[in-house]
Amino acid sequence: MMSYKNTQSFGFELSNPVDLAIRLCTEGRRTAESERDSIEVPSYLLYSDDSSRSARIQLPRVLGESRPFHETLIMRKAVRSYGTQPLRLEHVSTLLDRVARGDAEDCATGARLGMRLQFVIVVWRVDNIVPGVYLYEPDEHCLSYIRQAPDPETEGKEMVLQIEFATAPLIILTTGNLAAATAIYGAWGYRQLLLRAGSAGQRLWLASVAMGLAGTVFAGFLPRAAHEIAGIDGYRSAGLLAFATGYSGVSAPGSPGQGGGTMI
Ligand SMILES: Cc1cc2nc3c(=O)[nH]c(=O)nc-3n(C[C@H](O)[C@H](O)[C@H](O)COP(=O)(O)O)c2cc1C
Repeated sequence: MMSYKNTQSFGFELSNPVDLAIRLCTEGRRTAESERDSIEVPSYLLYSDDSSRSARIQLPRVLGESRPFHETLIMRKAVRSYGTQPLRLEHVSTLLDRVARGDAEDCATGARLGMRLQFVIVVWRVDNIVPGVYLYEPDEHCLSYIRQAPDPETEGKEMVLQIEFATAPLIILTTGNLAAATAIYGAWGYRQLLLRAGSAGQRLWLASVAMGLAGTVFAGFLPRAAHEIAGIDGYRSAGLLAFATGYSGVSAPGSPGQGGGTMI
């Protein structure tokens, strides 16, 4: 039987291919911090820079006012029914700025090596923007147009496992570069991405409640739909977690139809 001795790429000696398979399938390979800097992720595994996405929409400044944090934490709950009122573009701007900035600050090493999160948004009802699917470009704080919005009554309902999410004015899908993540961290890279997506979901949720909106993080954004509407291939770009948001459609005492929220 062939003997595998590859201490250079794996950091431990593998004398048996079965050991390798078991390690990759179960615990995964954790690259040591010191090794990571020298890893170069091949360019074909990185996000493709699609220059055909030429229509760019500059986002307005982020909102400066919000609910106090402790109040936001207390008010946060999953809301799956949304009012018909459109969001403001400032809401979208603030949500995307907060989520991308937070991830970049927390995970600078991964981002530098090419393991980045991306945010694809499905806009159905937001003032001053055409309904559509867009990619957030954090460096320019703008949106790149991908395509028209799926019809919420037909294509939209097939995009999500629970059709109530297709009634939201806005869905933000967090995607991660699984190819780069596994090139850098081995099988452990997928868990790293899921962890970051969880933080992203939490940031989006808290930021939306802080602005007087409501929402739910959800896993049921279907991979096939993500591929069809935004070319998310599940490898260089893999759907991780979604967030649906809008004004609450749940009546609450003192604030009919707005879930008790103060609109900002
Ligand atoms: C990773 C993750 C995925 C989730 N996916 C869904 C989902 O697909 N559909 C859904 O209705 N709730 C989903 N939830 C649950 C809600 O987002 C929320 O966390 C849960 O309902 C608890 O909030 P609540 O106590 O206010 O109801 C998910 C939660 C997490 C953390």
